[in-house]
Amino acid sequence: MKLRRWMLALAGLGVATAVAAQDLKSPSADQYVPRLGDIMSAAQARHQKLWLAGKAKNWELAAYELRQLKASLVEAALLYSGIPVGNVTTLEPSLRSVSDAIDAKDGRKFAKVLGELTEGCNACHRSMSRGFVVMKVPSDQQPFANQQFAPAARP
Ligand code: HEC
Repeated sequence: MKLRRWMLALAGLGVATAVAAQDLKSPSADQYVPRLGDIMSAAQARHQKLWLAGKAKNWELAAYELRQLKASLVEAALLYSGIPVGNVTTLEPSLRSVSDAIDAKDGRKFAKVLGELTEGCNACHRSMSRGFVVMKVPSDQQPFANQQFAPAARP
């Protein structure tokens, strides 16, 4: 009962207007659609873990985090039609380069191509009016060390 009132409140805010009354009784896992910002937050964690694993030359873990990161980006494009598919496919070459660097266990190449991949994240953010979400190659292991929080210098 509590849950239902909570969901109706959300519907009142226009968040779940498409949810039919009977759906409110039986929410199930296959109806759950993650919000884009949540998918991106997962991508942020994987981007940082990918970097840390590569830095530590744990190539098996790096390969795993790369797969997870790709899955987040694909999920974003599939679930959110407002995302131009081209914005995801332009990341494909840098995702492949990161994968090649991992296969070759090449730390130097890995560092270089991760920078390119990160620039790809920012290019999409800029093109979608989210230029204020600025990712960077992580500076350390602190949470969110792969995001720039200081405002960009004005031109
Ligand atoms: C295809 C376009 C696109 C690509 C590629 C993309 N993003 Fe995003 N990202 C977005 C959009 C759009 C938002 C804003 C979502 C919102 O407003 O709910 C966003 C938001 C974010 C946020 C903010 C989430 C929050 O709640 O604070 C982070 C962090 C983020 N992206 C990380 C990344 C990382 C890391 C990459 C690259 C590995 C990446 N993004 C690639 C489109 C993209």
